[in-house]
Amino acid sequence: MFDILLSNQTDQPLYMQLYTQIRDHIRSGIIANGMRLPSVRSLQLHLNISKTPIETAYQMLSAEGYIVSKPRSGIYAVKPYETNRPLYSSGDSEYRSANLRSSARVPEETEWFIDFNPSGVDSGIFPVRVWKKMIHDALDRHSSEMRDYGDKQGEYALRAVLAEYLRNARGVVCSPEQIVVGAGISYSIGLLAKLLAGIGEVAIEEPGFRTVREQLIAGGFRVIPIPVHDKGISLDQLRSCEANAVYVTPSHQFPTGSVMPYAEREMLLGWANSRNGYIIEDDYDGEFRYYGKPIPSLQSLDDRGRVIYIGTFSKAFTPALRMNYMVLPHELAGRLGEMQRLLLNPSRIDQWAMQAFIEQGHWYRHIRKMRGIYRKKHQKIIELLQAHFADSIEITGQSAGLHIQATVRTERTCEELVNAAAAERVRIYDFREMRMSPISEGKPKVYLGFGGLSENELETGINLLKKAWSGMID
Ligand SMILES: Cc1ncc(COP(=O)(O)O)c(C=O)c1O
Repeated sequence: MFDILLSNQTDQPLYMQLYTQIRDHIRSGIIANGMRLPSVRSLQLHLNISKTPIETAYQMLSAEGYIVSKPRSGIYAVKPYETNRPLYSSGDSEYRSANLRSSARVPEETEWFIDFNPSGVDSGIFPVRVWKKMIHDALDRHSSEMRDYGDKQGEYALRAVLAEYLRNARGVVCSPEQIVVGAGISYSIGLLAKLLAGIGEVAIEEPGFRTVREQLIAGGFRVIPIPVHDKGISLDQLRSCEANAVYVTPSHQFPTGSVMPYAEREMLLGWANSRNGYIIEDDYDGEFRYYGKPIPSLQSLDDRGRVIYIGTFSKAFTPALRMNYMVLPHELAGRLGEMQRLLLNPSRIDQWAMQAFIEQGHWYRHIRKMRGIYRKKHQKIIELLQAHFADSIEITGQSAGLHIQATVRTERTCEELVNAAAAERVRIYDFREMRMSPISEGKPKVYLGFGGLSENELETGINLLKKAWSGMID
C-alpha cells in the first residue's frame, strides 16, 4: 500500500486530502500506470475513516481520468490524460470554458482548418451596432448608479424582463425574486451546491456535461452517473438509486442530443415529488428547436417547487457576455438572504444593456434571426452528411440545439476517427471526457457542432471528413 497521510490540522476535508495525494502519486509515478488500487473497504480499514470520503475521492479521480473501475476486477490507476490523450481530443473547449484547467494547459499544436466545435456560435450575426447603443444608453441612464456594486442577485429590472421572457418563451413561471443572474453555469452550480448542502447524492446524465459534474464534486456531492437513452435519462435507473437531486438537459441532452418527451418529463417530476427531491434543468440551448412541437420546460410543468431552471445567454447571444440566469423554487430562493456574501453579480453595465435589449424587443428579433440561420445550417450539415456517408453514419440528436451526434458504422475506434480527421486539420469531438466511465459501448459516436461555421465551411469540412475516413468506414 502506498503512503497516505491524513491530517486533522488542516481545513482541507478528508476526501480532498485523499484525492490530492492519490492524484499526485499517480502523476509522479509512485502509483504506476495500471496498478491496482485498494478497494474502498480495504482503504477504509487501513486509514480507519468512513467510506464516504474515500468514495468521493475515487469519484473525483475517476471523473478526471486518473483511475478506472473495471467490473468484477477492481480499481486501476491510469496515466493522466494530459499526457496520453491526443492534443486534439474531445471536450477541450468545455473544459477550458469552465476555467478548470490548471497551468498544465496543453498547447494547441494543430492549426485547425475546420473546427466543428459544439460550443461555437455564429459571430457574424452578433448585433454590434444595437449592442453598442444599448451600452451607450446604459451608461447615460445609470450614470448616478456607477459608484454602487448593485444587487448581488442581479439587477431587479433585468430579472423582471427575464421573468416575462421566460414565461413567454419557455413557459417558466417565476417572479424576479426567484431569479439569480450569474456569470455562467459553473457559478450557478457552485451556488446551488451551497443551497442544496446536505441533500445527499446527486444523479447526473452519463454521458453528461463535465463542467457540471466537476462543480458538483467540488461542491462536496457524491455524483451518480445514470445512463442516457433516446428519451433522456433512464428513469428506471434513477428511481433505483439513492439520489435526491438530478441534473438533466431535457430539451437537448448534452452531448447525445436526445429530447425528453412529455410523458417522461411528467414521470421525472413524479420522481422528484415522491422524494421531495430537486431537478436541475439546464435549458442551455432551449431557444433552438427546429422541427416538431415545442416541448414545455420541466419548470413549466412543476407545481410543487421541485425544479431549478438554468438558462444562458451564451448560445442565443454570445458566450463572451458571460451571463446566465437561474430560477429557484420559492423555498430555495428564500435562503438567498443568508448567502449574500457568496453571491457575485456580473457587470452591472452589461446587465443594464441586456435589460434594455430585451425591453426594446431586440432580443426577440435576434432570437428569430438566429433560429432561422441555425435552422439552415442544421439542415445543411445533415444533407451533407447524408449525401457523403449515406448509411455509414446514423445521425441522432438533431432537430434542436447547435450540434449533432453521429454514430459511425466502422470497426475503428472513436480515437482513430478523430485522429484521421485531425490529419486533414478537421476537428471533430468524441467527448470521452463527458463520461465518468471512459468505456462506451457499441459503434463509435462523434459530435459535430455547426453553429460557428458558415455553410461553405460546413461543406468543406464534410468533404475533408469524407477524404479522411475513406477506407475506414463500412
Ligand atoms: C450543457 C451546457 N450547459 C450550459 C452551457 C452554458 O454554460 P455558460 O452559461 O457557462 O456559458 C453549455 C455551454 O456550452 C452547455 O454545453
